[in-house]
Amino acid sequence: MAAPSNADSGRYLLEVTANTSAERTQVAQIGVDVLGATKLTTISVVADKAQYRALQATGLPLKYVGDFEKELKSLGKVDFSDPQPGQVGTQDFPSGYTGYHNYAEMTAELQQTVRDHPTLASLRSIGKSYQNRDIWALKVSDNVATDESEPEVIFTCNQHAREHLTVEQCLQIIKRYTDNYANSAIKNLVDTREVWFVPMVNPDGVEYDIATGSFRGWRKNRQGNGTDLNRNWGYKWGCCGGSSGSTTSDTYRGPSAFSAPETNVIKNFVDSRVIGGVQQIKTNIDFHSFSELVLWPFGYTTANTAPGLDATEERAFRTLGQQMAATNGYTPEQASDLYITDGSIDDWMWGQHKIWSYTFEMYPSSGGLNSFYPRDTVIAAQTSRNDRAVDLFVSYSDCVKRVINVSC
Ligand code: ARG
Ligand code: ZN
Repeated sequence: MAAPSNADSGRYLLEVTANTSAERTQVAQIGVDVLGATKLTTISVVADKAQYRALQATGLPLKYVGDFEKELKSLGKVDFSDPQPGQVGTQDFPSGYTGYHNYAEMTAELQQTVRDHPTLASLRSIGKSYQNRDIWALKVSDNVATDESEPEVIFTCNQHAREHLTVEQCLQIIKRYTDNYANSAIKNLVDTREVWFVPMVNPDGVEYDIATGSFRGWRKNRQGNGTDLNRNWGYKWGCCGGSSGSTTSDTYRGPSAFSAPETNVIKNFVDSRVIGGVQQIKTNIDFHSFSELVLWPFGYTTANTAPGLDATEERAFRTLGQQMAATNGYTPEQASDLYITDGSIDDWMWGQHKIWSYTFEMYPSSGGLNSFYPRDTVIAAQTSRNDRAVDLFVSYSDCVKRVINVSC
């Protein structure tokens, strides 16, 4: 195995053979940045020197892929350095990536959607990010201005800053459900559901990731050293070794549940959809990248069932998860089969609100940090790859248990 040298940056890109959830959880608990998993046998991580030694001590097979920063600089588009004082970056995606939407472009796209389809789409700010950017929610339904008695769906994208493909996924579904409304299958979905989109949950992180004109590999929000939004949700927050209490960790859970403005804004919005004691939102997909997975709750325990998740519900989660995965070629599994997480959005959506919540890990199936940054030429294929899964999901959003022939 090639070994780290003294001339390196002190951060290493490694592949760890970890065949079980327990082994992958053990690796995650060392505090390394877990980038993704390959067929659940190998995980790619970024480790500093101390973490590297701790990984060696586990006895798990390790492959040193390279010096993290050099490796990524060789892509030509990735630069983890902070800008020099006074340095002004492009504040935008570099060439080869201009098909991705930055915050301003995403905002403009949502506003244009509403201008083009005023009876089908409406846009509101549901609150502010830490740095005071509006967090946008777009609603798509027939008679969009009226709160009709229809099952509601919420798609959330881009909790993690560097997962830029996920914004494109939310925007692509919005486009398909509005521009293609004349299509009878789509009309039927849009007419019988109220579909919410939060295309950019973490705008501050996104803008930070692209500010220099290269990518920084940034995951968290921009509060202090950054909070991992997907460890900050308030169901069994910090319970189970599935997040970090260290502010510099990439899985820092924050000082308390919903300490991050961004998770708190979405919590308040979802809470506000309880009307007459009934949660209107029935289903959620939270998009991430990468590893090509369809995941369902719970993440905090490896048990398949738990208080608040009975065997029938587990079977419905699993069956719909498998059916969706059969359409896009992703791997379906319970979230904790990957590794233990606590404070994730899906555990809160289900644990708190009984919202059927899935996490999709998008393209590609494996790789290192560069896998967060596929060229914009893949956007069309990798978002439309989920068309059938998304439509199936929306169609079951009146009653997910229908998928196992159990009524609601
Ligand atoms: N990459 C995602 C993360 O670390 C995976 C989360 C899987 N667990 C879950 N509960 N969805 O946040
Ligand atoms: Zn993610």
